[in-house]
Amino acid sequence: MKALILVGGFGTRLRPLTLKHPKPLVEFANKPMILHQIEALKAIGVTEVVLAINYKPEEMMNFLKDFDTKLDIKITCSQETEPLGTAGPLALARDKLIDDSGEPFFVLNSDVICEYPLKLMIEFHKAHGGEASIMVTKVDEPSKYGVVVMEESTGKVERFVEKPKAFVGNKINAGIYLLNPSVVDRIELRPTSIEKEVFPKIAAEKKLYAMALPGFWMDIGQPRDYITGLRLYLDSLRKKSPSKLATGPHIMGNVLVDETAEIGEGCLIGPDVAIGPGCVVESGVRLSRCSVMSGVTIKEHACISSSIIGWSSTVGQGACVEKTVLGEAVHVKKTSLGEVVYVCDDVYSNGGVVLPGREIESSNLKPESNVRVWD
Ligand code: GDD
Ligand code: MG
Repeated sequence: MKALILVGGFGTRLRPLTLKHPKPLVEFANKPMILHQIEALKAIGVTEVVLAINYKPEEMMNFLKDFDTKLDIKITCSQETEPLGTAGPLALARDKLIDDSGEPFFVLNSDVICEYPLKLMIEFHKAHGGEASIMVTKVDEPSKYGVVVMEESTGKVERFVEKPKAFVGNKINAGIYLLNPSVVDRIELRPTSIEKEVFPKIAAEKKLYAMALPGFWMDIGQPRDYITGLRLYLDSLRKKSPSKLATGPHIMGNVLVDETAEIGEGCLIGPDVAIGPGCVVESGVRLSRCSVMSGVTIKEHACISSSIIGWSSTVGQGACVEKTVLGEAVHVKKTSLGEVVYVCDDVYSNGGVVLPGREIESSNLKPESNVRVWD
């Protein structure tokens, strides 16, 4: 079986992390987002994954080249010269996806995290005999997603409305599809949206079916959702593989610590924390609901909550970081007045500081773009 992962998009909502790496390579629970998906696909027998890319393809392919052999799965790239949206990439990758077998193939949005019940989806697809299957999940804020109205007993989709302005329902497209090859015949090679242009038509012909996704689900393409997704993921890990979670008197709730990270005396870590490889957490540090990427140093008595700390950053002694995303190599110091300032490497040479409370999305050469603070 084959699969295509939609890895395009600039990941603007996850800046400043995505200034450094394409979104699918940003770690989630100590593993690049895309590896969660490739491993799940491999586990149910997918032998070839096509990455539909329009942004920084070299870095992505470079990173994944070892995983071909490590995971024993073929990984190829289908590169767009202009962004083709969420459907155009299927037309572009037509020859890679479709062979004589006539088998359906998976399509995944690259920023969704769940338990990937893909085997169940194959059974569901075979049983209904339609042209396409999508997974749906219930959310509180459906207007941010593609909303699906379906016949409860059969799963037959009656309507698919992308990002509706008015309330249509609370079941939404989870970004995981199983499609017959004939779906590609419906798509022209141009920028086009599967949600706005393809699914509504298949639904009108009564050939689109939706399956309720068991377990947790989250689109982790925004900082707040990324942190919520981490909580849900660690909850699920607690049930499925509790031995992967950290234990000890300084651990509270679900915490993932890479074996190469060092944790000092008298820390209180958790709940819902991931600490990446090579991190140094000095004594008396308090961490909760946060993701700490590789190579970060957190100095004595610092306190971090609801935040994502980018690779190789330093959080200074006694500093407090809350609801913040730091990009790569940001240094957080505590000033004499007690407020927190963010100092990037290149700011040291310029002698400038960036105050919190600002969200700046300019060029990544400017230090301000390395910090994002949310409400
Ligand atoms: N190759 C390629 N080219 N991929 C793209 C492009 C493109 O031009 N544009 C977006 N993508 C990829 C993104 O990287 C992501 O993996 C996926 O397509 C969906 O794009 P998002 O930008 O994340 O869309 P969304 O989150 O607003 O909405 C989508 O996901 C929701 C679930 O999280 C839709 O599919 C909704 O219907 C759905 O509910
Ligand atoms: Mg998304």
